[in-house]
Amino acid sequence: MMTTPNRFSGRLAVIGGGKMGEAIVSGLLASGTVPADRITIAEPVGARRDELASRYSVGVVSDGIQALGDADMVILAVKPQAVDQVVKGLSQALARAVLVSIAAGITCARLESFLPEGSSVVRVMPNTPVMVREGMAIVSGGSSVSDEQIQTVAGLFSAVGRAIVVPESAQDAGTAISGSGPAYFALVVDALARAGVAQGLTRDTAQALAVQTMLGTAKMLEETGMHPEALIDGVSSPGGTTIAAINVLEDRAVRAAFAEAVSAAVRRSRELGS
Ligand SMILES: NC(=O)c1ccc[n+]([C@@H]2O[C@H](COP(=O)([O-])OP(=O)(O)OC[C@H]3O[C@@H](n4cnc5c(N)ncnc54)[C@H](OP(=O)(O)O)[C@@H]3O)[C@@H](O)[C@H]2O)c1
Repeated sequence: MMTTPNRFSGRLAVIGGGKMGEAIVSGLLASGTVPADRITIAEPVGARRDELASRYSVGVVSDGIQALGDADMVILAVKPQAVDQVVKGLSQALARAVLVSIAAGITCARLESFLPEGSSVVRVMPNTPVMVREGMAIVSGGSSVSDEQIQTVAGLFSAVGRAIVVPESAQDAGTAISGSGPAYFALVVDALARAGVAQGLTRDTAQALAVQTMLGTAKMLEETGMHPEALIDGVSSPGGTTIAAINVLEDRAVRAAFAEAVSAAVRRSRELGS
């Protein structure tokens, strides 16, 4: 079920000021969902702290416990390999807040095992387009979190794109589609841009054509709800250019390559959680 955006009235701590931590904070600030004076980021690297403090007027500290303070929600944005150690270290301080983990592959049960009984845990797989408020977040609740808390988290991520609440069993597959997805689409744009250069276009022109076409196609699919096959058929006039190109892509088994790629991402997501 897709959720609608809502303003967040509590205090937010973000543990880990890396790529995703920054992308989420910048999206939340730009959308006005959480004011800067209610966000604190914990980041261990001094140079990175300086960078974040120069870009955003949020609190930026080195220590996780200090960032937590009286936070109502804590977004854990460290690498999956660092999650166990960080959650163990913050366990007591986390008792009253909702813990939102965005770590690929790490299950709610694993997070709960480091926390006091009854702690509220939500697992979210966002993606980097949250930075431009077009993210896709997949949201699943742990064993003790309330529906209202899950909706609050989903509402926060809806403010920077879309959020969908799913059973946790769908997280690995979702991660492989939308979590990693921006890289797949960027690869397609790069491939088309290079192909355009090979055909005599400038890189800038070729990339602009590819990006706008991706954007327009996504909007068309979203707004009309049409099946992608119908869109392909609609562009493929008899004996025309598109069908000539599509036949090459089918011969090169592009669909099979995507299916294998997604399957590899699902496997990796499961490995990270084990
Ligand atoms: N990148 C994506 O597209 C994407 C998409 C969805 C979900 N995710 C998830 O988001 C999480 C973060 O990924 P990322 O790409 O943002 O990684 P990243 O750029 O490496 O950011 C992680 C940040 O957390 C910091 N950190 C490590 N230990 C910490 C601690 N004890 N307290 C506070 N900060 C700490 C790291 O500092 P150091 O550099 O010193 O380690 C680093 O700045 C991962 O779990 C990933 O699975 C990423």
